[in-house]
Amino acid sequence: MTDKTVAVDQKMKWTPKAAEIAREAGARLREFFAEGVATEYKGDVDLVTVADRTVEKLIRTRLGEMFPEHGIYGEEGTRDRMEREFRWYVDPLDGTTNFAHGFPQFCVSMGLEQRGAGLTEDEDGALVAAVIYDPMRDELFEAERGLGATVNGKPIAASKTATLAEALVATGFPSRKRHQNPNIHFYHEITLRSHGVRRAGSAALDLAYVAAGRLDGFWEFNLNPWDTAAGILLVEEAGGRVSNFAGGRFRLNSEETLVSNGLIHGELVEIFEDLFAGRNLAPLPSPEDFAAMRAAREIKAKGLE
Ligand code: IPD
Ligand code: CA
Ligand code: CA
Repeated sequence: MTDKTVAVDQKMKWTPKAAEIAREAGARLREFFAEGVATEYKGDVDLVTVADRTVEKLIRTRLGEMFPEHGIYGEEGTRDRMEREFRWYVDPLDGTTNFAHGFPQFCVSMGLEQRGAGLTEDEDGALVAAVIYDPMRDELFEAERGLGATVNGKPIAASKTATLAEALVATGFPSRKRHQNPNIHFYHEITLRSHGVRRAGSAALDLAYVAAGRLDGFWEFNLNPWDTAAGILLVEEAGGRVSNFAGGRFRLNSEETLVSNGLIHGELVEIFEDLFAGRNLAPLPSPEDFAAMRAAREIKAKGLE
């Protein structure tokens, strides 16, 4: 550990205890992953397993023991002490589809919000602490407001990639009402203008990877506070930028999450503007056009034999 790491760790108020919980939760996920679990459907292709429910219960119990005065808002239904000043947003298993298929990319995500007096459910407080744990790689991402972000205790920072053309970015797709979402057009356009767009299946890890400089940007439609609360603080504390698709203020209940290293943010916002306006899109042959070109090539080749 460097001196800087020790100094940051000593000041952290909430993450040491939260990290202990996330590691315990992650260990339980590893056991379920090794055993294999049956999959149930919450809707469309929205999957859930016994691991999601068991691990949320575990986190709920432990948070209640360690921070009895804090509220908890969990993906699998926990709504405890919602009127309190501090509230944990908990995703016990982010990446359930991966988990259910044996694809080892998933995590535990816990983000702490401090809510001022009199806020309505539509208003956000300040994100103050974040823990994301990847149990398969044993990587623990932590942040507290004003104290920076770390992975396994080492400081992390957003990347220095200056242009989208040189960037590696990520996205995800909704698991409900899939045919009502235009993200495939965004995926197409940004893939053609960057080094690539990854769709690895865990929004929380995507956000942690932007914080760690492994990805230069990430966007997704319709995420929930349990997906984003921890990752958003990690990105901010790592020096990245967070907004909605128009470059305006990010909201926890927002339908738009756009984060980046800051340097490529303007370019991404411009592309989103163009996409929503149907402007400046890179032309692509349709499958029929492509098939016609292929048939024409075959005819020409035969003619030359
Ligand atoms: C999902 C993952 C995925 C994202 C989906 C989320 P879950 O969370 O974060 O990457 O694309 O929108 O719902 O259901 O695995 O906790
Ligand atoms: Ca999730
Ligand atoms: Ca989940």
